[in-house]
Amino acid sequence: MKAIVYQKFGNIDVLQTLEQPKPTIQSDQVLIKVKAFSINPMDWKIRKGEMTLMSGSKFPKHTGTDFAGIVEDIGSSVVGFKKGDEVFGVVKNMMKEGVSAEYVAVPSSLVWKKPSTISFPQAASIPVVGTAALTALQKMGTITSQTSILVNGATGGFGMFLLQLLKQRGAHVTAVTSTAGAAIAKKWGANSIIDYTKENVLSQKATYDIVIDLSGKMGYQKARQLMNAKALFLNPTPKPIEIPLALFKNLFTAKKHIVILSSPSTTYTDVLLGAVKNGLQIEVSKVFPFDQYKEAYQYAQQGGYIGKVAIELN
Ligand SMILES: NC(=O)c1ccc[n+]([C@@H]2O[C@H](COP(=O)([O-])OP(=O)(O)OC[C@H]3O[C@@H](n4cnc5c(N)ncnc54)[C@H](OP(=O)(O)O)[C@@H]3O)[C@@H](O)[C@H]2O)c1
Repeated sequence: MKAIVYQKFGNIDVLQTLEQPKPTIQSDQVLIKVKAFSINPMDWKIRKGEMTLMSGSKFPKHTGTDFAGIVEDIGSSVVGFKKGDEVFGVVKNMMKEGVSAEYVAVPSSLVWKKPSTISFPQAASIPVVGTAALTALQKMGTITSQTSILVNGATGGFGMFLLQLLKQRGAHVTAVTSTAGAAIAKKWGANSIIDYTKENVLSQKATYDIVIDLSGKMGYQKARQLMNAKALFLNPTPKPIEIPLALFKNLFTAKKHIVILSSPSTTYTDVLLGAVKNGLQIEVSKVFPFDQYKEAYQYAQQGGYIGKVAIELN
């Protein structure tokens, strides 16, 4: 089978295609013929060697974490799936495994039936950012229409799920977006917009009960000035040292720094599928064919897209 791999850390030029044997499955696994996989910022952070503490430095590495496809074979202990089922899922070890190949073997506990109402690229866009958005929502605690929330970087994959889930819960959301992202952020549920190309979010006077930074550019120290006395700062892009440090500092400050580390599961996926059924839109702004994988990563890495970017296989 054809696979996209890399043999050393680096930029897009380290990616190459190789012929590899089709994976063999263990008794609890499902073999999937991959129809699409989505691109996440984690893909290039790992590829650039920015996460070696968790990813390790063993090569070759595949890329991509969440996928959708068709069940090709099932392990002897797997129940609930049959050959030909349309499914989506995620690899078990997001830091060390990848889905960038024609076939992937994954535990059946991380595979779910694809609703017929969504496409393969849309389904492949659910697990990583959908779970992260739900995890953020849990960390926010009780939300009412009085809760003021600032979402910085609201129109990527994570923001797409978060804004719509917050809308379903009636929150009051200010979204920080580019000019091009303003309309869709409103459609997804933002009550007001700050255009980061025209206004520095840190210069405004308003303060919030919750600030979440999806751009990875704000950080807790800067966010403090935007936070009410007992506000939360949610951080899905922590540096390793920030994880214990935030816990320690939270003992002494009312403005809490909450790190988000999420992990897809059936519990999260069931909630996400329910939200999709209730109208949550999955916007995949561009789908690239497999052989244009370098263009796909180039496009995603430079930003400026709405929702998700995916790669599709025949
Ligand atoms: N901890 C976890 O469990 C977890 C899980 C999933 C994701 N993440 C992380 O969460 C972050 C968001 O994920 P994602 O998939 O949504 O990424 P994404 O699609 O790249 O979205 C990032 C967003 O930030 C915006 N942005 C860029 N520069 C900005 C600025 N100066 N001010 C305000 N917004 C700005 C982008 O807008 P433009 O493109 O218009 O510039 C885009 O909407 C990523 O860093 C990802 O790695 C963490």
